[in-house]
Amino acid sequence: MYHASLNPFPSTFLFGSASAAYQIEGAYDQDGKGPSVWDTYTKLEGTTFKNTNGDVAVDHYNRMEEDVALMAEMGLKTYRFSIAWTRIYPTGAGEVNEAGLAFYDRLIDLLLQHDIVPMVTVYHWDLPQALMDKYGGFESRQIIEDFTTYCETLFTRYGDRVKHWITLNEQNIFIGLGYRNGLHPPGVKDLKRMYAANHIAFLANAKAIASFRNLVPDGKIGPSFAYGPIYPADCKPESIIAYENAEELNNHFYMDVYVNGEYPDMAMKYLEREGIAPTVEPGDTEILKAGKPDFMGVNYYQSGTVSANPLDGVGEGKMNTTGKKGTTSASGVPGLFRNERNPHLETTNWDWAIDPAGLRVALRRIHNRYKLPIIISENGLGEFDKLTENGEVHDDYRIDYISKHIDEIQKAITDGVDVLAYCTWSFTDLLSWLNGYQKRYGFVYIDRDETDEKELKRIKKKSFYWYKDLIARHANEG
Ligand code: BG6
Repeated sequence: MYHASLNPFPSTFLFGSASAAYQIEGAYDQDGKGPSVWDTYTKLEGTTFKNTNGDVAVDHYNRMEEDVALMAEMGLKTYRFSIAWTRIYPTGAGEVNEAGLAFYDRLIDLLLQHDIVPMVTVYHWDLPQALMDKYGGFESRQIIEDFTTYCETLFTRYGDRVKHWITLNEQNIFIGLGYRNGLHPPGVKDLKRMYAANHIAFLANAKAIASFRNLVPDGKIGPSFAYGPIYPADCKPESIIAYENAEELNNHFYMDVYVNGEYPDMAMKYLEREGIAPTVEPGDTEILKAGKPDFMGVNYYQSGTVSANPLDGVGEGKMNTTGKKGTTSASGVPGLFRNERNPHLETTNWDWAIDPAGLRVALRRIHNRYKLPIIISENGLGEFDKLTENGEVHDDYRIDYISKHIDEIQKAITDGVDVLAYCTWSFTDLLSWLNGYQKRYGFVYIDRDETDEKELKRIKKKSFYWYKDLIARHANEG
């Protein structure tokens, strides 16, 4: 669909940026914080790029005021950040740590003083190690109660000031990389365990949403799903079936449960045939249905392209975590689909397809299938940035990437999609879980690398000034 002219962004639209606790805070054992699975996992030899970890990260915990001052200077309308469960409950449950709660109080209050809407993610992957040791984290239904109690503590403490909440960040990624590829904690490769843990994560998500309704009745809550809309590689009927398989197993499988409380039939039949389907106990469907979100949170980085894959075809592939272009290997699900490179799209140095129009496709598909408003909770470009001798970063490629994605959001809004907010990933540079510090996403350069923390100086990139202007321009339009 072409438009002769585009609708303006609504005056209430929130242009923002995002982060996650483990990737920025550092201070891994400060003020009573307990260890998370990431504190433990990153210390195991060979798990991350050059053995990087978040012990110091970009030291946001101790430089929070400076970082918020930069957000205020930029004019951000919203800032999405996550709360570290182990700052609130150092062992996941039991005794609450007041110092941890107080840190986020200060952050929230400071944001509000600058008219920046706080958007809180309750879970961005840093599961308390104590709960992993006690009952295997998401592999036990005991986590549902502990997670709900943790969420209720946050809703009660911050619900008067925070009205935008994200439950689980990218359940499909933390469960997939944790239990299919064995690349995230707990480093398991077992599909049956993966789908079982995934089902429990759905229940925890739904229970937290249900209790939110009582505690923050005027707030909005939803999960953030990593949505890569799928394209067929060509118009061969077998490619279309492969595309439908991938869209259903990778995407509907998650979003259908969030919104409707039910797994899609064909994906479930496939899992049953393979003997890896989750056990849906009596009462589960009711719990899932009672946890319908207010919006779909979408983290969009790239689309996917697939072709048919025979039963003896390719399975798990190798991820590029070095930034050496072309080092991603072939992958797929035998019998369902094979991931292909899209010849019409450029890729980043980490082999992620750059596809702004794919964001419009994602927004339209979600709108059509679920009829929910959408918050784009992440979108951005991870690249090598260069600090010039004059102390500048000319990241024109990031400006190009983000501006093209914003254009596509505007087209989707004109198409009729209800988009509430757009958060870039990320505000400052940060630790990329498996890719170290060299894969940079921020508007603010952090002067550190994998081996040297230096002084962690904050340096505004060219994109900082560009996004600042863009926000001001849209504010004047609205
Ligand atoms: C999302 C996560 O998967 O993508 C972020 O929510 C992450 O935490 C981002 O950093 C980019 O991924 P990566 O692997 O490049 O750091």
